[in-house]
Amino acid sequence: MAEFHAPQDVYTGRGCRKAVGDSVTKLGGSRALVVTDPHVIASAAAQDVLELLENAGIATIQYDGVIAEPTVEMVEAGLKVFHSFNSDIVIGLGGGSPMDAAKAIAVRAVSANSSLPKLEGANKVQTGRPPLICLSTTAGTGAEVTPFSIITDEERDVKMLISSLELLPDVSFSDPALADTAPLRPSIYAGVDALTHAIEAYVSRKAQPITDDLALSAIRRISASIVRACSEDYDEEARDDMTFASMQAGMAFANSSVALVHGMARPIGAVFHLPHGLCNSILLQSVMAFSLGSAPQRYASIADALGCEVGGLDSITAANCGIDKVREITEILAVPTLSQTGADLDLFERSVVKMAEDAIASGSPGNNPRIATIDEITELYRQNY
Ligand SMILES: [Fe+2]
Repeated sequence: MAEFHAPQDVYTGRGCRKAVGDSVTKLGGSRALVVTDPHVIASAAAQDVLELLENAGIATIQYDGVIAEPTVEMVEAGLKVFHSFNSDIVIGLGGGSPMDAAKAIAVRAVSANSSLPKLEGANKVQTGRPPLICLSTTAGTGAEVTPFSIITDEERDVKMLISSLELLPDVSFSDPALADTAPLRPSIYAGVDALTHAIEAYVSRKAQPITDDLALSAIRRISASIVRACSEDYDEEARDDMTFASMQAGMAFANSSVALVHGMARPIGAVFHLPHGLCNSILLQSVMAFSLGSAPQRYASIADALGCEVGGLDSITAANCGIDKVREITEILAVPTLSQTGADLDLFERSVVKMAEDAIASGSPGNNPRIATIDEITELYRQNY
């Protein structure tokens, strides 16, 4: 038996944002809180979304205070705006941070006597939230189709994972035009994040037939288009493919989970304040090498989807070609190693065991084909400093 969950309406393709007004109306909304960030809202495509809402007779108020990874404080500030405007629908417009904040504001709106830290973990969220729409402006997180929100609790210095089907948007928009103005470096890291979602969803112990097809299709698209999409020369076809693949990979890991790479990447991000996709990229090849012996056929299929010539090769050899292909992609995209980011070696040495403990505590490594011990995770961190 397998379960699969996705938004009730999934809009994809260049220009799909034009349906946003009808979507709000269909969900019964007329006063929308738009959760975004100052960079996104300055773009022409985002302004177009506001105009589309206005033309559909939807009153809007913006909360653009999600200036970095969202915190409890930012969500509470957004919630105040939601109530002060008598909003009846929440719209997330941005990358992972504004979308995660929008999700958290929507579920906080029905937990008046609660607080976000009490919602941390799985299925602690009350039902009955206002309608929720997410429009993604990056090709990477897939947050527009996932039932997760990551919010930092600054009092405890913890990145809380809140997980509930209540966080799954009712409607998602993956419109590549919204990603056209994203800066190059963040786009590269977002693209590698999407590739990691697809690879981890495919090798996860919770993989299932629907997520398998989505993940392999996403890997094919990303491998064929990531370098062209992340180049100074504008390539519309490649960018369209990356946005679609990011949505596919999001749906895949939303239903089959991520694994060891993500489990290890979050502590790196927390200690060194590095972008999430970069942290994944630092680890991806060596975690694949560590894991492939436990699922060689799966990693061979990934190599095939990455475009490697695997005909006639045994599974292990084919799987290793996949790792070479990932290395080739990250080298072309000039993704730095941890030490090249300027991460302090003393801080690394002081933190590495705690990072390994936090990685295991997150639960994601438990979905990896090969279960890693604390010592093995520590060693993997050291290999990738
Ligand atoms: Fe990710």
